[in-house]
Amino acid sequence: MQLLTQILQFIQLHPVVLKVLGVLLLVHGLAGLTYLLSAVILRRSVPLGPVYLFSPLNFVWHPIMELIRPPWWRRKWLERSGVRDGSEVLEEGFGFGTSPMIAARMAGPQGQVYALDLSPASVIALWLRAKLYRLRNLRVIFGDAKHTGLPDSSVDVVFIADAFHEFPDKQGTLRELHRVLRAGGTLAVLEDTARATKKAAALVQESGLFALEERDGNYARFRKEASVIDPLPEQGWVAQAGRSSRSTRTRTPV
Ligand SMILES: C[S@@+](CC[C@H](N)C(=O)[O-])C[C@H]1O[C@@H](n2cnc3c(N)ncnc32)[C@H](O)[C@@H]1O
Repeated sequence: MQLLTQILQFIQLHPVVLKVLGVLLLVHGLAGLTYLLSAVILRRSVPLGPVYLFSPLNFVWHPIMELIRPPWWRRKWLERSGVRDGSEVLEEGFGFGTSPMIAARMAGPQGQVYALDLSPASVIALWLRAKLYRLRNLRVIFGDAKHTGLPDSSVDVVFIADAFHEFPDKQGTLRELHRVLRAGGTLAVLEDTARATKKAAALVQESGLFALEERDGNYARFRKEASVIDPLPEQGWVAQAGRSSRSTRTRTPV
């Protein structure tokens, strides 16, 4: 008890602690502001939960995530999702960015990794890390999950770890992922719990765009559905053959 009192006194009184707290508060406020600004610039609705309003919490939360999810753990799931030499990979909602860095090493110079996140703090952190480790095949994208800005059929694997549940427009995001994935490409979703993964898997299957290949606890892997017709931007989404659709135009199945 005495020790606790001493610790509390130290935290309250020590000038170094006060300075650190001051700097954290400043960064906290500034990053929160940049987060809101990004929402205005990107003209996207962003989830304004406390974590997002104060996105610098990511500076605290993401290092914890790094400890809970060590590099070997990330590598295991990336391998299981089909990332290998020469792969083109998109990770959405990368947090502190360790998984895309590992993916960039696995993909090698012939491969390419795109890492997208909506948090400016995350984007800056990964951009700096990629520069520091000279990962030339890693491109960091600042944006919303449903607007990657990547060309059609340009990636082999989409990897989403503990982020799918945070995307505000899940069906819109799935349509975008279907667009950027090559025929037969893989969508891998990892969530914190088996329950959350089950929920995510149900949403993915509901979209009719991906076929479930494997679900194992917190992990689910899907393949871009071969019989699905691509979205028609001018007329809206056309669902799987045989299901109701908003357009009558058809396309050769991929
Ligand atoms: C819990 S963190 C992810 C952790 C990380 N993937 C890992 O493996 O450690 C969720 C991430 O999703 C991002 N995010 C939330 N909504 C998003 C959206 N609409 N578009 C892109 N990224 C988003 C957040 O900024 C955050 O970095």
